[in-house]
Amino acid sequence: MKTSLTGIKPTGTPHLGNLLGAIRPALTLAEEYRSLYFIADYHAFTATHDPKALRAHVYDVAATWLACGLDPAKTIFFRQSSIPEVFELSWIFQCLVAAGQLERGHAYKDALARGESPNAGLFAYPLLMAADIILYDADVVPVGKDQKQHLEIARDVAVRVNHLFGEGTVVVPEPKIEEQLQVPGLDGRKMSKSYDNYVAIFATQKELKSAVMKIVTGSEALDAPKEPEGTTVFTLYRAVASASEAEEQARKLRAGGYGWGHAKQALFEAIDAEVGPKRALYAELRQDEAALDRVLDEGAEKARTIAHRTMQRVRARIGIAR
Ligand code: TRP
Repeated sequence: MKTSLTGIKPTGTPHLGNLLGAIRPALTLAEEYRSLYFIADYHAFTATHDPKALRAHVYDVAATWLACGLDPAKTIFFRQSSIPEVFELSWIFQCLVAAGQLERGHAYKDALARGESPNAGLFAYPLLMAADIILYDADVVPVGKDQKQHLEIARDVAVRVNHLFGEGTVVVPEPKIEEQLQVPGLDGRKMSKSYDNYVAIFATQKELKSAVMKIVTGSEALDAPKEPEGTTVFTLYRAVASASEAEEQARKLRAGGYGWGHAKQALFEAIDAEVGPKRALYAELRQDEAALDRVLDEGAEKARTIAHRTMQRVRARIGIAR
């Protein structure tokens, strides 16, 4: 059985775009692969130096993924920071990769372009990510387009290690660039934390309703025919509802006599049907941090076994082990 690995950066309130574009597809992998899911807390630390927020976001992510169906008995779910060997491996990679390759890293270059002075952690970010992947012998890493370059770096590193120290030293990961479902936010741009246009997965029903009702729509009269394609309400509806429901809504809008208010009500109901059943479970999981720690620690035990095996192999090959 091949291994898939998913890294989740705990940076903010998980939203509907994350659920539809990332969480749902990632969870289906567990049916076909030995699946590891880890919370990349030390990747978040490149940008977040607020201990309370960082800790809270780790629990938010853990409770979210569990509430959305991650089964910790069938998968390996853990905190990145629980396995410090990842830093040892990323150091090894730092000694094998030209600094110039990291200077071309998108995240680092973008920060420079914005006039920031990025920390060395952001510079080395792709190699910590490569270590995340290679430490656990991951064959497949599903990522969105924004992570494509990071994955190419991880692949280059693995190939280089095997070239220098012998085939089979590490597993070379396959890129699996997901055509991610584009979920629009409330203002029509891509749903994103940075645009503050998102619908939190676990907003209360009331918050959800008021967020949906705020979506800007056309102002055609009720009986006027309306073009659904390209509108925020319909695009969101299509992302959440079934294909036949979406078709039905498009037909009604085009026919006239069906208003944007009706479409929003249908959208609210579709989102609520998706997240409603998970809401109570999330609240229950989120309030017991000790229980979440236990789940993540059990996952870390399983991850550690794989990590130790990889590091023994790597250390021996590179001349560090006795
Ligand atoms: N960099 C990824 C992101 O920002 C998170 C991540 C960290 C990751 N390590 C990983 C993803 C390893 C896949 C594999 O979303």
